[in-house]
Amino acid sequence: MARKFYITTPIYYVNARPHIGHTYTTIACDTVARRERMLGADTFFLTGTDEHGQKIERAAQAAGKTPQQFTDEVSGEFRALWRRMGISNDDFIRTTEERHKKRLQELFRRIRDNGFIYKGRYKGQYCFSDELYVDGAQPGDPCPICGRPTETVEEENYFFKLSAFQNKLLELYENPDFIRPETRRNEVISFVKSGLRDQSISRSTFSWGVPVPDDPKQVIYVWFDALANYITAIGYGSSHTGAEEAFKKYWPADVHMIGKEIVRFHCVYWPAFLMAAGLPLPKAIVAHGWLLFEESKMSKSRGNIVRTETILDVLGADALRYFLLREVVFGQDGSFSFDALVQRYNSDLANGLGNLASRTLTMINRYFKGEVPYPSHAAARSPADDAIADAARRTIREFGDFFSGFQFSRALESAWGLIAAVDRYIVENEPWSLGEKQDHESRARLATVLYTSAEALRVVTALAHPVMPEATTKIWEQMGLGDIRKVALDELAWGQLKLGTKLGSVSPVFPRADKSAIERMQQMEDQQRGVGVEETKAVVPAAPAPEKVAGTAAPATTNGGKISIDDFAKVELRVGMVKIAERVPKSDKLLRLEIDIGSEVRQVVAGIAEAYAPETLVGRKVVIVANLAPRKLRGLESNGMIVAASLEGGKPVLASFLEDVPVGARLK
Ligand code: MSP
Repeated sequence: MARKFYITTPIYYVNARPHIGHTYTTIACDTVARRERMLGADTFFLTGTDEHGQKIERAAQAAGKTPQQFTDEVSGEFRALWRRMGISNDDFIRTTEERHKKRLQELFRRIRDNGFIYKGRYKGQYCFSDELYVDGAQPGDPCPICGRPTETVEEENYFFKLSAFQNKLLELYENPDFIRPETRRNEVISFVKSGLRDQSISRSTFSWGVPVPDDPKQVIYVWFDALANYITAIGYGSSHTGAEEAFKKYWPADVHMIGKEIVRFHCVYWPAFLMAAGLPLPKAIVAHGWLLFEESKMSKSRGNIVRTETILDVLGADALRYFLLREVVFGQDGSFSFDALVQRYNSDLANGLGNLASRTLTMINRYFKGEVPYPSHAAARSPADDAIADAARRTIREFGDFFSGFQFSRALESAWGLIAAVDRYIVENEPWSLGEKQDHESRARLATVLYTSAEALRVVTALAHPVMPEATTKIWEQMGLGDIRKVALDELAWGQLKLGTKLGSVSPVFPRADKSAIERMQQMEDQQRGVGVEETKAVVPAAPAPEKVAGTAAPATTNGGKISIDDFAKVELRVGMVKIAERVPKSDKLLRLEIDIGSEVRQVVAGIAEAYAPETLVGRKVVIVANLAPRKLRGLESNGMIVAASLEGGKPVLASFLEDVPVGARLK
């Protein structure tokens, strides 16, 4: 019986349309799943959407839709995008599906029957954006994941006895492969060692969720709901024979692939829930870093997303797949830019793989009537031929090793090293000159050079297939080799290219991209972003989106309400740190702040007293407009203005940073 392999992506929230951050995880999983299939594993690849919870309910409200309508639409967009990209998922789970809801309730019941769930009262801070209970936080404290201010929540809930699992979890982490990479494993270990509190796993102040069994006033906490997808999708909790068998066959998962911000949910809560239910644990949680755009995490609320469709329209899915896996060191953060994408595309795909394919196959067509030639007998062989064969054997080995360790960029680097070696080999052996000669020796040599090049091309194409399914399928067909998905990667070896193979018709696979490709993508995104700002406002009302910088003097506008960069440069925005904060006597709204902006300490009077207690501000980094003309408020001189998002009908939310920034740094 074939070995089984079960891999999952996180299920994506439907408050935001898909962007290349989501696509990154999906591509990585798709690539692993495709490789596993080619290695002969009975593979199951799951993805889906996370559709319950208060964040989604609020987003639907803001969009003027029912949650069901809203989630149907956005979930549909994820599915359409994956279809368009040819993602090879075996199932797509939505948490609003009946099959999920029933099986989730079954899991809840089982854990409750096992004695790990009790009723209690929760009072504390909650981040709506990450749907996270922030233990130990005080009102006004930021969320440790996204930095947004947390909100105070007080309600009766069901609690999960997480504290009972501390030692068992620590034992689990002794297996170094359970959490990858090592840095994440260390973070989780120290978090668990610092002590675990019981975890609220239901909510009672809204209704968009799955009712707690036997207590429909409560809905199951969205993270409990979401994590369960990994087992409900493959049949847990169902009494149908097919479902039971699928669950038995595929569970436990071999890999849950996730972004680093949701490590705690997957490495602490999820195994604890499974332990409480008496179910087997996943074999590995693999966390990758963030895709950054313009130096911060790409995310909808920050308004710096890049849409996948833009890249598909201009360069195609394979270009994006290759770029993300080659350019970003898996596990670490990586920057995305259109320039880098096009540069990689041209150097590695158009000039690299594409050029190797077209020059090799064109010469076989020209000199051998489109049939793979016989390599020459011993006398006409050179050490360079054997060097290529050795390099290819090494590449097959290395590629596999790197891939199994999720080191995609190194695997690709190794394969592209082989392409570079073959390019050099072709240049040094000048098949085009050999082709001009008719003597037996030259023909024999030409046959060897072209066979060697074509065989190396075959090896690289097979290895790269999981990464670039479309382009490699085309190259394979041009080589006359049939269906590339049937290649058994575990048997891939040098010398398998059959002599006399008849080539298919040859055409370029990666046409060169010029500068206009960058401009086109940039323009498409700029157009979208104009819309995006409004969307942020509508979809995530709780997020501190910079809808309006209160009080900024409007510079003269040009160009239909837009300002020039020079106008913007007139506003001196700087990072400051609050040294002193106190209420202004007889004012409900005003605080007197002393803010260090690097070059000096400024007194600023700000209308934020209703949103922030003065003591929560001391030591906090803020953004101030440093070159505003001074003005007097309640007799106090204010020298600058503090920047906050002003939410309609809500309290101001101070602009802040996710990364550490030095005091005095200018924003531009
Ligand atoms: N719904 C939860 C996950 C529940 S899993 C049981 C969630 N959803 S999310 O829509 O916010 O998606 C998170 C995942 O999308 C990340 O963990 C990551 O895999 C991917 N990414 C979203 N933005 C990303 C980047 N900017 N960079 C890299 N990956 C990103 O959290």
